[in-house]
Amino acid sequence: MFCGNLPMLAMLVVLAGSCAVPAKSPQDATLARMRSGHVQVVAHRGASRACPENTIAALQYAVQQGADVVEFDVYQTRDGHWVCMHDVTCDRTTNARDVFGRQKVRIDQLTLAEVQRLDAGKWFAPEFAGERVPTLQQALQAIAPAMPMIERKAGDAQHLVAELQRLDVVDDVIVQSFDWDWLVKVAAAEPRLLLAALGGDEPTPDRLRDIDRTGARIVHWNHSRVTRAMADAVHASGRLLCIYTVDAEVAFYGAVAIGCDLITTNRPEHYVAERAVGHFTPLRR
Ligand code: G3P
Ligand code: CA
Repeated sequence: MFCGNLPMLAMLVVLAGSCAVPAKSPQDATLARMRSGHVQVVAHRGASRACPENTIAALQYAVQQGADVVEFDVYQTRDGHWVCMHDVTCDRTTNARDVFGRQKVRIDQLTLAEVQRLDAGKWFAPEFAGERVPTLQQALQAIAPAMPMIERKAGDAQHLVAELQRLDVVDDVIVQSFDWDWLVKVAAAEPRLLLAALGGDEPTPDRLRDIDRTGARIVHWNHSRVTRAMADAVHASGRLLCIYTVDAEVAFYGAVAIGCDLITTNRPEHYVAERAVGHFTPLRR
């Protein structure tokens, strides 16, 4: 009986093989997870309301509090290392003036060894004294298992791609920039990277169409410019919509209502707690 059905069994196996759904790329899988799950809470510069921005304390606190994605900013030092900082000068968020005895100390004019002398926590509150400016590698380690969103402020496209390949994290990060020509170079160098196109101007149809050349699959826009029509246009293009930077509840819930997929906030701990009590789950497309 069993032997008699062998040809049929073989045919079923062949058919199953030919009908197999192609495996999703890691990039597709990440987008599908974000699209189908809850609205993603993105911690802006880490949990930067509670901790000094872009420090290990801010990144780790965001992850501990349950942020889905943790955003941070990067520059290249004079000797080519990637480090976390928002401003081009170190004055606002470190004690660079005391350490180097001058103002407007540019992060890209310091070596990594010089950057590591800076205190990046004391300016925020005494209990954070001793926080350092993290390297990209240290930031990525602090953010696991959440999804890192790396914003390149300045620095070479090929060099960042090579660093992400060296760290073996190409499938596990989002890379974003306001510089869309730079994104084009990144996409060409490493198509597996999930990219986000940052913008803050009027989201005209021409501007939104221009995203096509970047390879970005996430549009990350200034919340004050975002409309329901823009959200619909972004979704019609197959992309996800992320908005920055939303701290007030009235803005956050407006963003949820018009279908934003990811929302960047300085208060991830607050919105993760809101979500935990059901305040914006499962309001999804
Ligand atoms: O993630 C978007 C947002 O961080 C862009 O603005 O100035 O805070 O880097 P900025
Ligand atoms: Ca940023």
